[in-house]
Amino acid sequence: MKKFPENFLWGAATSAPQSEGAALSYGKTANTWDKWFELNPELFNANQGPSITSDVYHQYQDEVKRMKEIGMNSYRTSISWTRLLPDGKTLNQEAVVFYRAYFQAMLDEGIEPIMNLFHFDMPWWLMEKGGWEVRESVEHFAFYAKTAFEQFGDLVKKWATFNEPMVHVECGYLHGCHYPAKDDFKLAVQVAYHTLMAHVRAVEEFRKLAIKDGQIGIILNVSPAYPRSNSPEDLKAKEIADNLNIFSFLDPAVLGAVPEKLKEILAENQLLPFVEAKDKELIKNNPVDFVGMNYYQPFRVKAPENPMKPAKSPVDLFNSYIWPKRRMNEYRGWEIYPEALYDVAMLMKEKYHNIPWYVSENGMGVAEEERFMDENGIIQDDYRIDFMKEHLEQLHKGIKEGSNCFGYHTWTFSDCWSWLNGYRNRYGFYRVDIENDCKRVIKKSGYWYKELAENNGF
Ligand code: BG6
Repeated sequence: MKKFPENFLWGAATSAPQSEGAALSYGKTANTWDKWFELNPELFNANQGPSITSDVYHQYQDEVKRMKEIGMNSYRTSISWTRLLPDGKTLNQEAVVFYRAYFQAMLDEGIEPIMNLFHFDMPWWLMEKGGWEVRESVEHFAFYAKTAFEQFGDLVKKWATFNEPMVHVECGYLHGCHYPAKDDFKLAVQVAYHTLMAHVRAVEEFRKLAIKDGQIGIILNVSPAYPRSNSPEDLKAKEIADNLNIFSFLDPAVLGAVPEKLKEILAENQLLPFVEAKDKELIKNNPVDFVGMNYYQPFRVKAPENPMKPAKSPVDLFNSYIWPKRRMNEYRGWEIYPEALYDVAMLMKEKYHNIPWYVSENGMGVAEEERFMDENGIIQDDYRIDFMKEHLEQLHKGIKEGSNCFGYHTWTFSDCWSWLNGYRNRYGFYRVDIENDCKRVIKKSGYWYKELAENNGF
């Protein structure tokens, strides 16, 4: 049997905009997802917008009981910035009441809440001023973070500033799948830098408040780059990809400095962001206590052919390629490669002074899951169980070799809404019937997870 360390966190993750619903009616102002859906509903799968999602706002009590039912001891979601501070300044008391009740319900069931502050949900009023493009957003975020710590710091001990900060950068400023859907490499770098400074300022506010037993971290998406060959060109492409995609946030968050190599790459391509004189000190003085790693897929990388110099887009620095032996989750278009989780465990041990970290997301999204429903209405998602087992085996190996991993969270607990993809791909332990008041039915993987958590291994 593969046993995991004592007090290991077993749980799942979601976010406020993807699970709570009631965004416009209760939040009083919109975030970019509410607004984008209002402006361009045709961009969203099956016209599925963010207003109801999985209705956790109303159903949180039952939701928490279900967490307990499948043996979870921890849960990560986020606070909605627009719900808490509709105009960025004034506290919404309804939001305070809701979140306090939600967190207390978790604590009553022995479930540790891990609370994240930003999960791609920029308030619309701030987006109208430029969002992360403008430095002003850093201080708005610091104020929001401070408010959240003050309001909920007695209930929540583990905090995260951002979920996958590279995703709103890439999707919003390179690939067009998040608002404002621009394509501008230099602006993307500036947006990333302001996000980094917002993270650092939030950590600073957290330290000032000295919350008893409080810990703060950041949650990053990690797709380790594997080069096509050992040629100097392919190895260089790997080095650049890792610097831009992973070390850009991991180094400053854990080691207190932006990597020199990254600065070199940005300088060579005339992409250096505007910085303020005090920033370097701020970054140095505010390292995190822990890191969450969202792992889904590796990144297969090769040298670019005929790149532009200076680079106009990341494809001028590295290209993706199809690894001939790859196994795919065809629904999501993501490669399945559990071995990378072991490599992540070793990276944390060796490069990041073995800082405490956990797997904050890992999971398998499958479309039209009703195909796998049995006569009792239960989805027989053996593919998901196999996916988790394979990843846990690799994680276990990393832990045995000394990596300081304290938990494994899946994406997600109950099926949830996903940005432009709506409810197409399902990830949860519970099926959510969106046609029927979001009624939940456990899947086979939910029963499996219960056994896993209760045995602290498999
Ligand atoms: C993570 C995000 O990258 O992956 C989630 O933190 C997201 O917000 C999840 O929903 C699954 O990806 P997707 O695009 O299939 O929903």
